[in-house]
Amino acid sequence: MKIAIVPGDGIGREVMPAALAVLDAFGLDIEKIPLEIGYGKWKRTGSAITDEDMSIIKECDCVLFGAITTPPDPNYKSVLMRLRKELDLYANIRPFVPLANVKLPCNKKVFDFVIVRENTEGMYSGIEELHEDVAYTTRVITRKGSQRIAERACILAKGGKKHITIVHKANVLKSDSFFRDVCTGVAKRNGISFNEMLVDAMAYDLILRPEKYDVIVTTNLFGDILSDVAAALAGGLGLCPSANVGDRHALFEPIHGSAPDIAGKGIANPIASILSVRMMLQWMGREKDAQVLGRAVDSVIAKGIVTPDLGGSYSTMDVSEALSKIMSEYLDQVH
Ligand code: IPM
Ligand code: MG
Repeated sequence: MKIAIVPGDGIGREVMPAALAVLDAFGLDIEKIPLEIGYGKWKRTGSAITDEDMSIIKECDCVLFGAITTPPDPNYKSVLMRLRKELDLYANIRPFVPLANVKLPCNKKVFDFVIVRENTEGMYSGIEELHEDVAYTTRVITRKGSQRIAERACILAKGGKKHITIVHKANVLKSDSFFRDVCTGVAKRNGISFNEMLVDAMAYDLILRPEKYDVIVTTNLFGDILSDVAAALAGGLGLCPSANVGDRHALFEPIHGSAPDIAGKGIANPIASILSVRMMLQWMGREKDAQVLGRAVDSVIAKGIVTPDLGGSYSTMDVSEALSKIMSEYLDQVH
């Protein structure tokens, strides 16, 4: 198995070593290909990612990604968007389950849902025009794109999550009534129970009644926004992982960004990145290892070995080291 390792910018460079230490504890036969990609590289060389980087990544089985800065500079092309598009990582899967012993901001403590976000089109189509007095972004929703994301949602629903909620703004946007109709057709064909929600009502209800939801399927920008809402519900961005998957490639990354405000201090929470490794293990079919990792995360949190965002005073690497140690003990018991 060949994995491209992309720490990226800011805290990406701190959480990646923490995640790799945990991955190493499994002793798997993995070839790691480190790549320097991101805003830092853009500032130094004028290119955030080269064609050569792209072809190295395409030869890997998957990518483990830290975090990357995407400045609001019209001349800067988002690296993540390029990777998602060129690797055809059309499904962005973001699970939200409260971790044991994490204080949540709302009184809702029991929920378990996954946001399945279309990841290659919609408002992120890249078809844009910037003029003196007007700017355009073309929102593209295709039948193929909507069908395959709805199929992904159905696979998750069949795997135990049961119900699908199709989220859109079809009362206003034609592209969304198209998305809704395609998704509805796919859910019916698969015999999956479903309902639909307008995205604004969804944001509201997700906070009040998160326990109602199993699989939420939606378009690119709505999924981006709803997943940050969901991350707040689940205790913070520092805890939430994601998988960007296509039919051939996959990329695993925490939902959080490069957090320049805390970068360089060694206090970034590595759990989101470590749980992204867990999603990678699941994608590899290593369910037992993924379970061991999940138990170890619960255990460090229960012991209070946590970073300042969770009220602790431990560093990024303290958490990683404690976790690797607990995991090695579990693994000794298993083998
Ligand atoms: C995310 C991020 C990205 C997105 C940015 C950094 C391009 O917010 O993965 O949620 O908008 O998809
Ligand atoms: Mg986002």
